[in-house]
Amino acid sequence: MTKRLIGIVMFLPVLFLTGMLRVNAQPVKPIYLDESRPIEERVSNALSLMTREEKVALCHAQSKFSSKGVARLGIPEVWMSDGPHGVREEILWDSWSEAKWTNDSCTAFPALTCLAASWNPEMSAIYGKAVGEEARYRNKTVLLGPGVNIYRTPLNGRNFEYMGEDPYLSSRMVVPYIQELQKNGVAACVKHYALNNQEIWRGHIDVQVSDRALREIYLPAFKAAITEGKAWSIMGSYNQFRGEHCCHNDLLLNKILKGEWKFDGAVITDWGGAHNTMQAAMNGLDIEMGTGTDGMTRSITNAYDNYYLALPFLDELKKGSVPESVLNDKASRVLRLIFRTTMNSKRPYGSFATPEHAQVARKVAEEGIVLLKNDDNLLPLDASKLKSIAVIGENATRPMTIGGGSSNLKTHSEISPLQSLKGKFGNKITYAMGYASGPSAYGRELPSKLNADTLRAEAIRNAKKADVVIFVGGLNKNHFQDCEGGDRKTYNLPFGQDQLLNEILKVNSNVVVLLISGNAVAMPWVGHVPAIVQAWYLGSEAGNAIASVLTGEVNPSGKLPFSFPVKLTDCGANSFDKLCYPGDSIKEVYKEDILVGYRWYDTKNITPLFPFGFGMSYTNFVLSKPLTDKKIYTKGETVKLTFVVQNTGKVAGAEVAQVYITQKNAPVLRPAKELKGFKKVFLKAGETQTASISFKVKDMAYYDDKTSNWVVDAGEYELSLGTSSRDIKFMAPIQVK
Ligand code: BGC
Repeated sequence: MTKRLIGIVMFLPVLFLTGMLRVNAQPVKPIYLDESRPIEERVSNALSLMTREEKVALCHAQSKFSSKGVARLGIPEVWMSDGPHGVREEILWDSWSEAKWTNDSCTAFPALTCLAASWNPEMSAIYGKAVGEEARYRNKTVLLGPGVNIYRTPLNGRNFEYMGEDPYLSSRMVVPYIQELQKNGVAACVKHYALNNQEIWRGHIDVQVSDRALREIYLPAFKAAITEGKAWSIMGSYNQFRGEHCCHNDLLLNKILKGEWKFDGAVITDWGGAHNTMQAAMNGLDIEMGTGTDGMTRSITNAYDNYYLALPFLDELKKGSVPESVLNDKASRVLRLIFRTTMNSKRPYGSFATPEHAQVARKVAEEGIVLLKNDDNLLPLDASKLKSIAVIGENATRPMTIGGGSSNLKTHSEISPLQSLKGKFGNKITYAMGYASGPSAYGRELPSKLNADTLRAEAIRNAKKADVVIFVGGLNKNHFQDCEGGDRKTYNLPFGQDQLLNEILKVNSNVVVLLISGNAVAMPWVGHVPAIVQAWYLGSEAGNAIASVLTGEVNPSGKLPFSFPVKLTDCGANSFDKLCYPGDSIKEVYKEDILVGYRWYDTKNITPLFPFGFGMSYTNFVLSKPLTDKKIYTKGETVKLTFVVQNTGKVAGAEVAQVYITQKNAPVLRPAKELKGFKKVFLKAGETQTASISFKVKDMAYYDDKTSNWVVDAGEYELSLGTSSRDIKFMAPIQVK
C-alpha cells in the first residue's frame, strides 16, 4: 500500500510535467501564416524556412497552367488561367487540350477593344470585378490579362485583345479593371510586356524602336497598370527588344519595371517565352511557363525540371555564377503573389456565370458599340414601319467567343445577332448566310465547302424583297483573321464580302452594315451604305446588345479606340518598307516612331476613313466653349477645362468630350495632337451639364532621348476640345512658364 502510494507520489511530477508540456504544446503559428503581420515579414519568414530546391521550384511551371507552392509548408500552388475576356476552360496537365470538365462554362465578356470603345472607366471597373469573381470562383491565382499592347497596324491578329492606339486612353481604361479584379484576391497579369504589336514572327522578331516612342507610346499603359493599378504580376512578351527576348530583357524588366516603377510582383513568361538560363536568371524573370509545347516530351521523368529556371538554374546557383540573392528575390516575389491571393483568408468566394455577370457583359457591350454612319437616320430601326428585314452574313450566327487563340472561351451562353433580331422582329426576318468563311484546321483557314454562288444568289433574292438589309459581316476568330499566332493577310474584308455588299447594294440601298471585328477594315462601299455599326466581339450577350442598339432601346455611345485608315498604306507602320512592318523576319524597325494612330494621320494630314475617338449617337450634343482656370501655368500645376454639354435631341444619350494638346513651335517633333483627357457625359433629352477635364502640366511632356528625361517646354500650347481627334469644336490657348 505504502509502496503504491510512494509510487503514485513519485509519478506526480511526471504527470504534472507532461500536463504542462501538453499545455505548452499549443502549436505556435509560424510568422508566414500570421495574417496580422506585414506581408514582407511573412515573406522573409517563409523564405528562411525553405531549401534552395524549394525556392527554385517556385520559379517554373509544374503543369501547363500551374507552378508549385511549398507543399511542406502548406503554401499553395499558383494556378493561372486565360484571360482576358473570361475565365478559360480547364486545360490538361501536360498539353493544350481541354480537360473536358462540365463545370467550367463561363460568362464571356466583350473583347477589350469594345471595353476601350466605351471610353468609360466605370465599365472597366464592373468588367474587372465580374471577371475577377469568376476567376476567384474557379480558384485561380492569376488571370492572364488584361492586354495593353498598342494598336500599331490593323493587320495585327491580336488587336482585339488590347485597348487601342492611344497610350492615355488605354492607361485610363486598364487601371480600374486591375483594381477591381484584384479585390477578389486574384492577380492580374498584364500582358504582353512589351512591343508585341504583331503576331507574325512574334516568337523572335527583334523590335528596334526609339527610347522616345517606347516611353511615349508603348510603355505608358503598362506603367499605369503597375504604378496605379498595382498589378501583382506581368507577362513578358514573346518578341525581342534590342536583341534580348522580352521575358528576360534587362532594360525592360530590371531597369524599367522593377527599378523605375518599383514593381514588387512576379514576372511570368508568355508560354514558351524563355530561351536562356543565365538571362532568365539575371534579367528579371520570376516564373517560367510553357517551355516546350508538351511538358512530357523532354524527359521521361519530369520535363518541368528541364526548364531554364529549373535544374539548369539550380546548377548555376551551385556553381556560384548566379548569386543566392537573385534566387531569394524571385522566390520572394512568388511568395508575395501567393500571400496576396490564395493565402489571403479574407478574399471573397467569387461567383460564376451569374445573371449579374451577363448583365455586366451586356452593359459593356452596349456602351462599346460604335455608330459610324447613319444617313437619313436609317437607324434606329422602327419595327412598326418595317415589313421585312433581310439579315445577311455569316457573322449573324457565328459564335465569336470561340477561336482567336488563348482568349478562346467555353461559355455558359452566347446569343447571336440573328437570335436577338428574330426576338425583336419575329417573322419579318429572313436570313441568308451570303458568304462562307470555311473551317479552320491546324491553324489554317480552309476553303468553304459551300457553294459561293448559291449563297450569294440566296442573299440577293432576300435583299431584293426586303425593306432593309442588315449585313452582319466583318472578320472572325479564325487564323489570319482576329486570331493569335498570325496577322491578317489583307486590310479588306475577307471571303468576298466586299463584292457581295456591292451586289446587295444594286438591289437594295437600305443597307445597315454591322461589322463584327476587333480591327479596322477597308470599306470600299462606304459611300453607298447609309448605316454602319462597329460591333466588335461582344461575348455572351452579343446579340442582345446589338439588337438593343439597332432598335434604339440603347442609344449608341461608343467611340473608336483606334483610327480606321482609308487604305493600309495610310497607316504609319504600313507606309514604310517591310523592315518597318512586318520586319525582315529577324528584326523590325518602328520607323513611324512616335507617330502611331491618329498622331500619324493628324500630323501627316492624312484623312482617315473614321478617326480615333469618333462615334455617333441617335441624339445631338452641343459643347460650349471651354474655360480654362488660368491662361498661364507653371510646371507643377494642373490644367482644368470647364465646359457645358447639352443634349439637344429627343432621346437620352452620352457624349465623350475629349481634350487634345498641341505644342506650338516645339524644339522637337511633336504630334499634331495628343489626347490628355476625356469625359463621358450622360444626358437626358434636352439636359445640360457642366463638365470638366483636368490634367497635370507635367503630363504635357515629351520624352527627351538625349537626356532620358521628360521635358515640358515653356511656351505656347493649344488645347482642343472635341468629340473625336478630327471633330474639334473649340481651341483654347495656354502658356507654360
Ligand atoms: C499567349 C498568352 C496566353 C498564354 C497562355 C500564349 O500563347 O500569348 O497571351 O496567356 O499563351 O495561354
